[in-house]
Amino acid sequence: MNEETKEYKQEDWQRHYDEDDMGWDLGQVAPPFVRLWVEGNLPLGKVLVPGCGRGHEVLFLAENGFEVTGVDFSKGAVTHLKKSLTERNLKGQILYQDFFSLDSTHTSVYDLAIEQTFFCAISPRQRQNYVLNVSRILKPGGMLVGLFYHTDKEGGPPYNTTREDIETHFSEKFEILKLEKEPLSAEQRKDKEWLGILKKKD
Ligand SMILES: C[S@@+](CC[C@H](N)C(=O)[O-])C[C@H]1O[C@@H](n2cnc3c(N)ncnc32)[C@H](O)[C@@H]1O
Repeated sequence: MNEETKEYKQEDWQRHYDEDDMGWDLGQVAPPFVRLWVEGNLPLGKVLVPGCGRGHEVLFLAENGFEVTGVDFSKGAVTHLKKSLTERNLKGQILYQDFFSLDSTHTSVYDLAIEQTFFCAISPRQRQNYVLNVSRILKPGGMLVGLFYHTDKEGGPPYNTTREDIETHFSEKFEILKLEKEPLSAEQRKDKEWLGILKKKD
């Protein structure tokens, strides 16, 4: 932890994996994504999952025909996810790197980005940078589908995300097609998640 800013650094996240202390990990793909998939509301194609962790969303997407890329800068996350993909005989590109430093080979490449407990993990100071990077990697008209954590608490991570936070940060680059509390959230996040379906503006 950076003591001046109290912000999490890469080694703080890695420590969670070293100590097997991952309170955020649902142990399964978040149920709202399954429903969206069943309803045909996740556009098939190239998808990126930033801060993918152990990658339950990555595995689910790979199983269902997406060309998936997961990004995480914690070795513990990446090693575990690569092993899971191999064990299940699934394909996926897993990048061990900082999401904010994806190079230009990722620009305008993806049809979809899936947000799950990453926007709340980064410092609020990085939120605009998140928007710029997600917008950059998506194709024109590409979608960001995310669960945004409304902790209603001070400090973090996880950092609180209000409806206003989402509207303020995303409106310039994205059309917000849907933004509502999610009924299918996992038990520990009931009434605390915004499901956002956002479309990149051309
Ligand atoms: C709260 S965890 C969520 C993991 C996963 N999305 C989940 O819900 O199980 C946040 C993850 O983001 C990763 N992370 C944080 N900042 C990152 C960055 N700048 N670039 C890449 N990964 C990052 C951490 O290593 C951690 O695995």
